[in-house]
Amino acid sequence: MLKTEHAREELRSSLATSGKGDASLFASGREGLLALLRACEFPTGSEVIVQAYTCVVVPNAIHAAKLTTIYADIEKETLNIDPSSLESIITPRTKAVICQHTFGIPADVQKIREICDKNGLMLIEDCAHVLPDALGPEEIMSLGDAMLLSFGRDKAISGVSGGAIICRKETVSHRLQKLEKSAIPLPPSTIRRLLLYPIFYGLARPLMGLGLGKALLTLLRQLRLLVPIVTAQEKEGRQDATLHQMPEACAILALQQWKKLQKINDHRRSLTRYYLEASAQIGWPVLHGVRSDLPLQKYPMFVRDAEGIRRALKKKNIHLHDGWTGCVVCPASADQGKTGYCEGNDRNAEEVAEEILSLPTHPGMTEEDTKRLVSALTPFLR
Ligand SMILES: Cc1ncc(COP(=O)(O)O)c(C=O)c1O
Repeated sequence: MLKTEHAREELRSSLATSGKGDASLFASGREGLLALLRACEFPTGSEVIVQAYTCVVVPNAIHAAKLTTIYADIEKETLNIDPSSLESIITPRTKAVICQHTFGIPADVQKIREICDKNGLMLIEDCAHVLPDALGPEEIMSLGDAMLLSFGRDKAISGVSGGAIICRKETVSHRLQKLEKSAIPLPPSTIRRLLLYPIFYGLARPLMGLGLGKALLTLLRQLRLLVPIVTAQEKEGRQDATLHQMPEACAILALQQWKKLQKINDHRRSLTRYYLEASAQIGWPVLHGVRSDLPLQKYPMFVRDAEGIRRALKKKNIHLHDGWTGCVVCPASADQGKTGYCEGNDRNAEEVAEEILSLPTHPGMTEEDTKRLVSALTPFLR
């Protein structure tokens, strides 16, 4: 039996070994990013480049660190930064590039690294959606000065909440460790609500096919028995400036999953392959960035009337609304005016937001669920 007080330290040391850097733990990935940006000690107002088509908590962390978010264009076929769009937005105020591996599709880190080196910029890999294992993807966590990891409940591995920064720059690492030491514990009531999630989800899952599971989770959220993934305040563009420790209980859960990473990733790889094979058989278009060896966090494709399809499938109790649709800075309920993204700046990201339909690959998704989903989708995609 794992001694509870040891989970954080074991997780930290495993991440440090695997990521070849120093690991610091925080209550979420967004808090980790805020801590990292503080530890970098960039002058106030410095610019940090992030891709369009991201989660609102990323620009929020940049703003909370008193820095400015600049959006890079994306490549539609990889959902990641288009390296050729980078150089034109670099200014003397630019200090860092956050390179997101969207849904587990590796970004072109090699090219981005070259551009960062040429311009003296810090390269931060956002690995919130994917953690590599012995089978790769080897590009991920390879060239970053620092890596952002998330153990949120819908991420590569789940501690329900939690995040880590793996840092390969010594001075920044030391400051990060100090910031982690001064971080305060989350209130016990928040930790209790976080830990209720796996219990409630376990109750809701068998009810999903009957149309009651989602309703139950929505009700529990409304009753404030569940912590939302993105809070109302965050949707208004504000992140709390306080840093919190990763709760030991979340570290226990994350560590258990970390030890099963190969198995979890293999499951994701096998569902990625299943969707790819279905695409080939049925003639669905495949994004160039999607490969059969990737443990995708979800399987993206572009379709006509994606929202209509999601609505039609919802009537069959198949829920494909994942918060990454209808907007460039997700979710759509976030106040887009506060994100710093200007409409019309990146046509690719805006088209992605309209056309994307993402299919789940999470550990709870069985082969049977996947078959059912593919056959329910097929009539819409002929
Ligand atoms: C791309 C991306 N980066 C960072 C984060 C932050 O992770 P966390 O939810 O642990 O704060 C998220 C998720 O919310 C994300 O989607």
